[in-house]
Amino acid sequence: MSSLVESIPANWYFDAEIYALEQDKIFRKNWIFITHVDALAIAGEYVTETIAGQSVVLVRSGVNACDNEADFRINNGIKGFLNLCRHRASPVCVAQQGELQRFTCPYHGWTYDLQGSLIQAPGFENQLDKKNYGLMPVRVEVWNNLVFASLDPDIISLEKWLGDIVTIAADFPSVAGMDFDSVRTNKCGANWKNYSDNSAEGYHLGSVHPRLNRSLIKSHTRIQSYQNGNFIGFNVTYKDQSEQGSPGFWIYKFPGLLIHFSMNDFNIERIIPVDEKSARMQRWFWFNPEIDSASRRETIEFSNQVMEEDMGICQLVQKNLQGGVYNTGVLSSEREPGTIFFQQCVRSALALD
Ligand code: FES
Ligand SMILES: [Fe+2]
Repeated sequence: MSSLVESIPANWYFDAEIYALEQDKIFRKNWIFITHVDALAIAGEYVTETIAGQSVVLVRSGVNACDNEADFRINNGIKGFLNLCRHRASPVCVAQQGELQRFTCPYHGWTYDLQGSLIQAPGFENQLDKKNYGLMPVRVEVWNNLVFASLDPDIISLEKWLGDIVTIAADFPSVAGMDFDSVRTNKCGANWKNYSDNSAEGYHLGSVHPRLNRSLIKSHTRIQSYQNGNFIGFNVTYKDQSEQGSPGFWIYKFPGLLIHFSMNDFNIERIIPVDEKSARMQRWFWFNPEIDSASRRETIEFSNQVMEEDMGICQLVQKNLQGGVYNTGVLSSEREPGTIFFQQCVRSALALD
């Protein structure tokens, strides 16, 4: 039976204290998608990213499968560190990505090897024990060629965290067999939860995304929340030449990860909060090798359109959330079960009520 549920309060979408609490209780406590293994293919290739306000650096360490098989299976030879020099806290990598043989701090020149060990501290030679001043490690795990990091040293394994997503992925082509195409970045003037509320429901499809709505066989769509992995799954069927259509699966995974599986392509989207009123979205696209370049461009253009439509409505909603009149609204357990589920995840992580 359908029921109505009160939505989270409007001030949670712009309040600085709530934002700080979320960084601490949500983004520091989960796995965050960072990049894919091909972006870190050569020893010394690195990327930097900010998780909950803290810069981290992930690097291809040069450790290969034979050195430590068990570790390699988990992290593919990719190491993660806080991007933080142990001398006086400068970042050791300033660029977003690049290639290096060792980390050299730009402030006073302390150097660290690709395993994070301090190897030189000019002028400090006999005064400190270098082994106590290595870069501080960050958890890194790889699944389906996708690289995740977490600031929580005690977090469950990535596969456990993904839960039933691992089973769902087995019905679709693996990322390893696809061509990586590109990554797109968008800035959105909406709180990350506002954009997530939208991503977690299909109720707005007909009004906000008429083209996307037309591309689906609606009678085949099933939306369900999954406790094993804390995500909402949209089991969809795309219209194609065949009568039965082609399968697709969209996922919104708490706290800010979207995954789209289909037989022709794969994309993953990450929502990173920038501040209490805005977020950065990044999408990575892969295609099956037989998909031609015109179809690839068309798929990405279509994805851009859907994203523009979502950002447009979320930015309008954000203004009204901040307007000082609206406090809470209602969610339908029949039409918006995913948004209810998402907001429950937020409430329980913040433990505010
Ligand atoms: S802060 Fe890195 S060498 Fe001084
Ligand atoms: Fe949407």
